[in-house]
Order: sequence, then structure tokens, then C-alpha cells
Amino acid sequence: MLPPGYTARPLDFHEVDGFLDGPDVDLAYDVVCAADVGVLAAAESSRESVRSNLINPDAVADEHRLVFSSAGDPVALVMVEKDAAAKTIYVDSYAVPDHGRRLLAPLVAMGVDAAARLKAGDDWKIEAGAFEQDEVYRDVLEAAGFGEVRRFWHMHIDLASELKQSPEAPPGVTRTVVDSDDDRRLLHHLDEVAFAEHFGFVPHPYDDWISWFSDRRDARPDLWWLAWLDGEPVGLCIGDDSRIDRNAGHVRVLGVVPQARGRGIARWLLLESFAQGAREGRTAMTLTVDSDNTTGATALYDGVGMRPERVIVLYRRPA
Ligand SMILES: CC(C)(COP(=O)(O)OP(=O)(O)OC[C@H]1O[C@@H](n2cnc3c(N)ncnc32)[C@H](O)[C@@H]1OP(=O)(O)O)[C@@H](O)C(=O)NCCC(=O)NCCS
Repeated sequence: MLPPGYTARPLDFHEVDGFLDGPDVDLAYDVVCAADVGVLAAAESSRESVRSNLINPDAVADEHRLVFSSAGDPVALVMVEKDAAAKTIYVDSYAVPDHGRRLLAPLVAMGVDAAARLKAGDDWKIEAGAFEQDEVYRDVLEAAGFGEVRRFWHMHIDLASELKQSPEAPPGVTRTVVDSDDDRRLLHHLDEVAFAEHFGFVPHPYDDWISWFSDRRDARPDLWWLAWLDGEPVGLCIGDDSRIDRNAGHVRVLGVVPQARGRGIARWLLLESFAQGAREGRTAMTLTVDSDNTTGATALYDGVGMRPERVIVLYRRPA
């Protein structure tokens, strides 16, 4: 399937300081960075984000492939994830610019083949994300039968030093830092309630869910916050250091349960995360949002001065 001269092999992982890791993660990271630079003129992912994508609870490590040129250089990568609850196989393909055009179609075909092996029913789907400006990859996906289903925005704000001050809490609202197993389970519960109507949301068992946040070196449990209204838990905010390479703080999850919305709780949590970032010397904050979010999230982010920095186009086809 690959053009002559190219070879593909699975990646090898072993434990390093309690995390699955190893030299193949470096090779994968090199490919992702080179691919991003080719499309965006900037590296977008941290090494730890790539490692997390390779070994997260949904990752199907046996199906990932590193592709090498005849000179032995790593030039492409396919990463495969299987979310049984969502009946979805996610396939991410990366190719370094010098080889990209000729490798992307075979990479996507490898992902489609993997999905055919992994699916557990006729109603399963494959999804793949592409940067909006990556027309070569988008053409390849469309030629392989994928259609656009949604757009996500990577949002960004430059932090000014005056943001260091904590914002005033809305009446009756307090915030605590997660510090026990009960708290972590409450965080999971609030996430499920707040995101129940969100695009693509499917509930996941606690053990799977928490490892997405905890099994990474850039986890920041001190930025896992619960919001309370008159003593009742109503909101969550989860931050991490996944953008620390750019000296940016990152909000991974922000949600408020339906009955507590419209009181300024999410804005307050967000501004507190900005203040925390500014106090730590971060120069920016980032997050990702569904551009068609039905609960006002884009207006919330716009209202605090965040702006879309990148657009990710989500593609889908039957598996
Ligand atoms: C989006 C969400 C976090 C907002 O929480 P919230 O506590 O109700 O938001 P706030 O009260 O702080 O609202 C702040 C601003 O957001 C915007 N906003 C909030 N809800 C809105 C809605 N339904 N429609 C339009 N704008 C809305 C407004 O600009 C609002 O400012 P205003 O009150 O001065 O008009 C909440 O609706 C939620 O949990 N949604 C589901 C999960 C989700 O989508 N999270 C974001 C993922 S990136």
C-alpha cells in the first residue's frame, strides 16, 4: 500500500519513570512536529501530548504505525484510537512535508483498514481531524469517503499581568481544589452532567475517564477545581500543562450543570484559571471549543477576550 521504498512498523513502548514511553515516542513526536510545521509553520503538539495520544485508554497501540523512508528516517505516523462507548475509531495521520503528499493517502487507507478490523458492528464510524488550512490532507480524507461534520476552534488569549488578581466570585459560589478520591469521582460526575448534551458526548466509566487526565506528566491536579453554589457541587474546571512548551496555560474542561447556568460561574472559573496562569508566569491561555457549541461557550470565551487561533475540521465516514 505504501509507495516503494517505504516501510511501516508498530511502535515499541516501555515504562520510563512509571509512564509508557521510549525512543519511538521521540520518533513519533519528530514526525508530528515536522508535519505541523509543514502545515502551520509552527509546532503545535508537545511531546507529552503525543505520548498521551499514543498510550491513552482508547489508544490501540498495536495499530499505530511509524513509517520510514528508504534512508531509515521516520517520515509518517498513523495513530488509532477505539472508543467502544462512542462506537468510533479515531485515526490521526501525519506525514513530514517532503513525503506528505504521497504518504497521506496510504496512511488514511491504513487507518480505514484498521477500523474495519476493530469495529464491532455496522453502526461504527471513523473520525479524523484536519487543520483547516491543510488542504492536501482534507482532499485525501474526502477522496477516502470522509465528510466534514463539525469544526472546533483552538482559542487563545495573551495574558496581561493585571490578570493576576483573582476575580470576585458570584454570590453564593465557592471553589475547592480536588484532593480526594471522592472529589475525583465528583469531578467525573459533574463532567457527565454538564456535558450530557454536548456534541459527541458519550458517558465513560470513571477509571477510563480519570486516566485521561492523570496518566500524563503534564497533569496538574492542583488545577482540578470544583465549583459550589450554596454548598452544592455545580461546576468543574480542569487545567493542565499541555501547552507549557509555548508557555501557555490550558483549560481542558470547563462545565456547569444546567440548573446553575447563567450566574457567571463559568466566567469566574475561567478568569480564575487566567489569574492562576498569570501568577505562574504564563504568557497565554488556550482551550478548544466546538464552534457550534449549543450552550453559549463560544460567547463566553469571546466575552473574556479569547480568539480562535486554529480551526480543526472533524471528518467522519462509516467504519
Ligand atoms: C458553557 C457553560 C460552561 C457556561 O456556563 P455558565 O456558568 O452558564 O456561564 P456564565 O454564566 O459564566 O456565562 C458567561 C457568559 O457566557 C455566555 N453565555 C453563557 N451561556 C450562554 C447561552 N446559553 N447563550 C449565549 N451565551 C451564553 C454569555 O456571554 C455570558 O455572559 P453574560 O451572562 O454577560 O451574557 C455551560 O453552559 C456548560 O457547562 N455547557 C456544557 C459544557 C460545555 O459546553 N462546556 C464548554 C466546553 S469548551
